[in-house]
Amino acid sequence: MAAAAAPRTPVVAPFEVYRFDPAHDARPHYARYTLELAPHTPVLTALLKIRDEIDPSLTLRYSCRSAICGSCAMQVNSKSRLACETPIGPEIERHGRIVIEPMRNQPVLRDLVVDQSPFWARYASIRPHLVSDPSRPMPVGRENPMTPAEVDRFKETPRCIACAACYSACPAVEADPQFPGPMALAKLYRFVVDPRDGARQDRLLRIQREGLWLCLRCHLCTEACPKDVRPSERIRDLKEMAVQAVGVTEPGSRHAVAFAENIRRAGMLNEFRLARQTFGPVALLGQVGQGLRIWRKKPELMKRPHPIEGLDELRQLYDALEEPSEESR
Ligand code: SF4
Ligand code: SF4
Ligand code: FES
Repeated sequence: MAAAAAPRTPVVAPFEVYRFDPAHDARPHYARYTLELAPHTPVLTALLKIRDEIDPSLTLRYSCRSAICGSCAMQVNSKSRLACETPIGPEIERHGRIVIEPMRNQPVLRDLVVDQSPFWARYASIRPHLVSDPSRPMPVGRENPMTPAEVDRFKETPRCIACAACYSACPAVEADPQFPGPMALAKLYRFVVDPRDGARQDRLLRIQREGLWLCLRCHLCTEACPKDVRPSERIRDLKEMAVQAVGVTEPGSRHAVAFAENIRRAGMLNEFRLARQTFGPVALLGQVGQGLRIWRKKPELMKRPHPIEGLDELRQLYDALEEPSEESR
């Protein structure tokens, strides 16, 4: 049976668009526009209509209008989206209006156009290129092929169109300028699992120290990604590979390993033990004041937890998870 055609009856679409021209405005404001458009109309088409018919000063970036170039990423009702592939109908149904703002975590140059230098600087910092492996030198004048199974290990990452929607959505980027960002880490993963790359160990060692563990595992990057690159899953893989390859070298990895060990031991966290394993006994002395404050407010957190029911089953799960996977071989 043929699929039902999308309804084309125009809907009233109230837009609130972030406007800021540093040459004239002391602070940003939101301009309101109301259009009548078919529900399947992409947000980008609506913005271009506003620019062409109502306000030619509206400034935005776009190019392909086909979800390929990545340049039209912006905040649509507070979510990082590609404007050219976001239809207005569902947005109006859900929110009653369409609020358009520039991408986050990057300085606004004008209206919806941001300065992407921080995004690209972090991308450059992970050395996003193959570092030749002396034991597997590049053949001269012919390809350096991989097997299909080797290519499969990073099949999602080449889909990335560098739109920075993940970067805009990431709270770790917002909180810490050292964090490389989800797209850069997904790209790093691509080189770490490439068997032709000779810098695997060095890459993992560096990224352990340079922000890998700042990721909060919130998965907002994966939710925002229009190409299903799944950066948060690649970051999870990197963490696992970093611990296996270079050990627990700083508090982030120590915390993760101690967390897993705590749960395996009793099925519950022992907060004191976790802090001691994460920071070490000496550094923990510096946390005594905070420990006392927690103890006063939540004494139950400082008690040794009783093992939970079903602990044996939980440990069996751990054993099953520790079976070496294809990825780690
Ligand atoms: S999962 Fe990590 S990288 Fe992704 S948005 Fe959250 S903090 Fe950022
Ligand atoms: S990982 Fe996804 S959201 Fe991030 S830059 Fe690439 S395509 Fe865009
Ligand atoms: S205009 Fe190219 S991705 Fe939207």
